Amino acid sequence: MNPVRSSHIKKPFIARRSIPFIKKASNGANITGKTKILGIFGRPISHTLSPAMHNAVMKALGLDMVYLPFEVKPSNLRGAVKGIKSLGMIGVNITTPHKEAVIKFLDSISEDVKLIGAVNTIVNKNGQLIGHNTDGYGYIASLKEELGFNPKGKKMVILGAGGAARGIIIALAAKKPKSITVANRTLSRAISLIKTFKGKFSGIAFQAIGLDGENLRAYFEDTNLLINTTSVGMKKNEALKIPLDALPKRTIVSDIIYNPLETALLKKAAKLGLATHPGLGMLIHQGALSFKLWTGIDAPIDIMRKAALKALKMGGGR
Ligand code: ATR
Repeated sequence: MNPVRSSHIKKPFIARRSIPFIKKASNGANITGKTKILGIFGRPISHTLSPAMHNAVMKALGLDMVYLPFEVKPSNLRGAVKGIKSLGMIGVNITTPHKEAVIKFLDSISEDVKLIGAVNTIVNKNGQLIGHNTDGYGYIASLKEELGFNPKGKKMVILGAGGAARGIIIALAAKKPKSITVANRTLSRAISLIKTFKGKFSGIAFQAIGLDGENLRAYFEDTNLLINTTSVGMKKNEALKIPLDALPKRTIVSDIIYNPLETALLKKAAKLGLATHPGLGMLIHQGALSFKLWTGIDAPIDIMRKAALKALKMGGGR
């Protein structure tokens, strides 16, 4: 029998042009029989930055874990969530469009999730699936890390009244700010949002207003923090028409959009000499808090940031 030499083995044909990501794909070199699995469920999912951030941390810490993206159709969400238990996954992140719909498939949810109505992290605790939301806490942690900002006793205006605004408001409210004003295009949505929080947090002045340009002036005059949670700004050069010039010079203007890294709103604010806070920090810190829930370990923020920036440069994050 002829010995088989490597030169005799036919190499599999890979059409690189038809599979453009093949060069960058993981080859699973570090996967063992004991590797624990984490991941993210969403649709679309191909541009998520989370696998890059989490795998970089796991590699740096030498953990035998892998974090994978899963494209899950709404009709398959129940099955995918069941899979967390059956496959013994440590947990997953949940992203658009499943953050609200996933709740009904979980064994329990945190008190915050009861108010926010959305989950971004599931922990598999001894076969019980628990839903958490780290978005708002990630936001606050990022404000503290990047600008040393503490919301206590401060006045804030939040633009938008969707799920992202809810997550941020609950985390802000826990820090006892003086006031939280929610400005939304659809006023009724802002009103119903503040109704949820008014009774739960005493000592904070909540109010709902419309998002109509010049009327915002009066509310902007003594604001410490302005946060854009609307989707306006995802397209380059697109910004809400709001009177930024009415904000006092000490105001921080914050945008939770991270692609583009600096939105048109932040560019305008910087030109006016206001401090700015881009959205990437919130993404990084919500990831770090999810990681802590799964592993009990504080994730190295600098490694997560580096990985997220690299993945963004390679076309992720859209
Ligand atoms: P998320 O969960 O990311 O917050 P969402 O629940 O769809 O997403 O909320 C999107 C927010 O962006 C809402 O506050 C929405 O305002 P409406 O409640 O009036 O829809 C706001 N938004 C989206 N497009 C907008 C636009 N062109 N101008 C102003 N606000 C806009």
